[in-house]
Amino acid sequence: MANLLLGVTGSVAAVKTPLLYETLTRRGHAVKVVATAASLYFFDPAELPSEALVLDEDEWPGRREGRRWQRDDEVLHIGLRRWADLLLVAPLDANTLAKFANGLADNCLTCAWRAWEPKRPIVLAPAMNTLMWQHPATARHLRQIASDMDTTPPNGLALDELLVWINGCLGRLTIVEPEDRRLACGDVGVGAMANVESIADRVQKILDERSA
Ligand SMILES: Cc1cc2nc3c(=O)[nH]c(=O)nc-3n(C[C@H](O)[C@H](O)[C@H](O)COP(=O)(O)O)c2cc1C
Repeated sequence: MANLLLGVTGSVAAVKTPLLYETLTRRGHAVKVVATAASLYFFDPAELPSEALVLDEDEWPGRREGRRWQRDDEVLHIGLRRWADLLLVAPLDANTLAKFANGLADNCLTCAWRAWEPKRPIVLAPAMNTLMWQHPATARHLRQIASDMDTTPPNGLALDELLVWINGCLGRLTIVEPEDRRLACGDVGVGAMANVESIADRVQKILDERSA
C-alpha cells in the first residue's frame, strides 16, 4: 500500500480519471488527485470522494474572499509532496509536459512536480494527438526532463528509442508509452493514453521493485 499522487491534465483521456482512481484504490493504495483546471472539462469531480480531490483553488483558501495566508496555513503542494510515495501523471498533456520540462510552476500540479523529492519515482502517461506527440517539442521536453533528473540521453535517438532509453536507464522516471489507435479526435495513430490497467500495473511494478 502506497500513497499515490495522481496528476490529471487537460486531455480527453481525463475521462478515465474516476476509473483510474478506482483501479488504484482497489489495489490498496491511498490516492489523491491533483486536477488542472482544463482537466475538469473531461470528468465530473463528484465522481471522486471530495477528500481525494485537490484543485488549484485549494492552494489559496479564502483568496477570493480577501483572506490572506497565515503563518500556520499549509502550503498544499509541499504537503502533497511530503505525503506521496509516487507521482503518477495520467493523462499527461502536451501543455503540462512543456511546463514540466521548462520548470514552470503555475498550478498545484506543476508546483508539486517542481518541488518533488528526487528519490521518489515518477510515472508519466502521455496522451495527445499523433501530430502533437510527433512534434519535435515532445522529444525535446522528454530529453530535458531526463537530463534534469540524471544523465543526458545520447544524441540522435528517435522518440520511441528515447522512451526505451528513459525506461531502461533512468531509475526514477517511467514513461507509459501512448498507444497507436483511433483517437477521440478521429485521427488514427500514436497518442492515446495507455489503458488504465496497464498504467496501474506499471505503478505496481515500480512499487514492488522498491519494496523488494
Ligand atoms: C476537447 C479538447 C481535447 C483536448 N485533448 C488534448 C489531448 O488529448 N492532449 C493534449 O495534449 N491536449 C489536449 N487538449 C488541449 C489542452 O486541454 C490544453 O492545452 C490545456 O491548456 C491544457 O491545460 P493543462 O495542461 O493545465 O491541463 C484538448 C483540448 C480540448 C478543448
